[in-house]
Amino acid sequence: MTQDTSTNPTADVQKSGGDLFNTAAGWVLFAAGLGLGLSILSGKYFHGDKPERPEKMGYVVEGVVEEDAAGPAEMSIEEALNAKPQAELVAAGEKVFAKCQSCHNAEQGGANGVGPNLYGVLGANVANHPGFSYSAELKAHGGKWDWDSMNQWLKNPKAYVPGTKMGFAGLSKVEDRAAVAAYLNSHGSNLPLPAFTPAAEGQNDAPNGPVEGADAGAEEAAGALGADAPVSPSTTETE
Ligand code: HEC
Repeated sequence: MTQDTSTNPTADVQKSGGDLFNTAAGWVLFAAGLGLGLSILSGKYFHGDKPERPEKMGYVVEGVVEEDAAGPAEMSIEEALNAKPQAELVAAGEKVFAKCQSCHNAEQGGANGVGPNLYGVLGANVANHPGFSYSAELKAHGGKWDWDSMNQWLKNPKAYVPGTKMGFAGLSKVEDRAAVAAYLNSHGSNLPLPAFTPAAEGQNDAPNGPVEGADAGAEEAAGALGADAPVSPSTTETE
């Protein structure tokens, strides 16, 4: 009897101890599973494994030839307009114009849509197409559409003419702006292409070394072309 009473509680303790262990193990497994599930879920939302690169890398230092991991600085509109044969440029511009077609027609006598008909717009006065009711802001802008103003307008219409009702974010690539401008030029305009002297090319050939080296390279390139060279390192990219 005495033995029985002394052994039974021990057995009970051992038994419940076992249960406790199993329960604890169960919780550990559960927690591990939960943790795994959560990390899969959070991975879906936060892409911790894939570093995302910003569109523009690094800082832009004014007056310095921009050449970093993102590639060389954007070319000028003059260079972009002369970068390939006209026929190719116009063909590329026709594709870009697909983005404009929901609002614009560029054919002679074409109707005004959400935006005005664009036949002959290059070289024409701004906001001057008959039968279209322009915003007061674009009408007040004045001037003519030339390569330069068209380039700035198409890059970011709302920045170039605040208050414009052209609901289009803009074309971020100078190649696209040059192409679509050339396409428009082939529809009733025929402005002469701006001259482009590949003088600035010396800048791109500058070594990837220290910043002063690149700057000196640009100066050398400008100097080598004589006093009338149109390149001066501080005024190359003013927009
Ligand atoms: C969502 C419609 C829409 C899209 C897309 C659009 N535009 Fe426009 N565009 C307009 C409107 C509206 C105006 C008139 C703006 C105003 O009066 O402020 C305009 C004005 C213009 C003008 C000035 C015309 C003039 O007579 O002075 C040009 C040039 C032009 N757009 C070119 C383009 C090009 C090129 C594209 C494509 C890359 C494009 N637009 C895309 C709606 C659009």
